[in-house]
Amino acid sequence: MLVLGLQGSPRKKGNTNYLISTFMDAAEKSGARTITIDVTKKNIIPCKEYTVCEKKGFCPIDDDVKEEIYPLLRQADVVVVASPIFFYNMSAQLKAVIDRCQTFWARKYRLKLRDPGAKMRRGFLLSVGATKGKNLFEGIQLTTQYFFDAICAKFEGSLTYRGIEGPKDMAAHPTVIDDVDKAVNSVLAPFKGRKKVLFACRENACRSQMASAFAQFLAGDRLEVTNGGSEPGDEVNPEMVKVMHEKGIDMAFRSPRSLDEAISQVKPDYIITMGCREQCPYVPNAQIRDWDLADPAGHPIEFMREIRDDIEKRVNELIKDILP
Ligand SMILES: Cc1cc2nc3c(=O)[nH]c(=O)nc-3n(C[C@H](O)[C@H](O)[C@H](O)COP(=O)(O)O)c2cc1C
Repeated sequence: MLVLGLQGSPRKKGNTNYLISTFMDAAEKSGARTITIDVTKKNIIPCKEYTVCEKKGFCPIDDDVKEEIYPLLRQADVVVVASPIFFYNMSAQLKAVIDRCQTFWARKYRLKLRDPGAKMRRGFLLSVGATKGKNLFEGIQLTTQYFFDAICAKFEGSLTYRGIEGPKDMAAHPTVIDDVDKAVNSVLAPFKGRKKVLFACRENACRSQMASAFAQFLAGDRLEVTNGGSEPGDEVNPEMVKVMHEKGIDMAFRSPRSLDEAISQVKPDYIITMGCREQCPYVPNAQIRDWDLADPAGHPIEFMREIRDDIEKRVNELIKDILP
């Protein structure tokens, strides 16, 4: 399971940094893979309102949001937003990332595409502020709520601390460790003990991408799904993206990767190969099943549709078979 943190404080070794590091350490102890992005150190260009995303579903701005943050937001099981309060909201650096996620909003609400992870992703907020007023976290709560909605994450809760000003105040807080442990246990609970399935094909550009997207979409948080290829291609197949869009499934921000990379992140209980069983690395205790599916790449789009429908049917059967 992947927990992605967006760290929004520019202060080195400050309170937000302490809070998110404590959260991520606890998540790792619970078996999660974690990635924390310090957004203040990234090349992030604020939204320029070109509105290309609203029409075409992608952002033309080239920076770390596009290269790194969009794909990770789609891969994450849990997204953690962490920021100090700056004028009753999050830091400008973090807000810039969130504004760029208008692209996710547009894909969901304008283009009516469904994120395959929509039924399983969860979101959590961490925040600190110096003063003690009742409304201190209202702004950040609201911004985070709409951000989580755009990236299809269910807002699971928050840990917010008032009266935190000096850089070491958070570390000295008497209940923070217990608070974080409780929060992490509750946020990660549905992801623990999930069966893990790896879908494998040669290029990881087409069949295994479709299968994993269907599996993730249909099984929600009951399965941990990954995919890889024995000879990964450069990009996912654009015809495959088109036929999945016809089904309303959004295949954006995905790229092929190797089987070794996939297995290094998720140790599968099941490996579903698509005619490439012999190229699959040995994984102890994994059950291998081979689906005899022709590679639709380079064939007319009708054939891509046939393979898509066949995969959807097989994924439904697989879910019935392996999930109680
Ligand atoms: C630009 C700026 C704006 C701030 N605005 C607020 C505010 O509106 N309300 C508040 O309680 N604290 C405010 N603070 C204080 C910080 O939220 C507080 O010091 C916090 O502990 C900093 O966290 P950090 O160490 O993670 O950066 C502000 C601080 C800065 C630098």
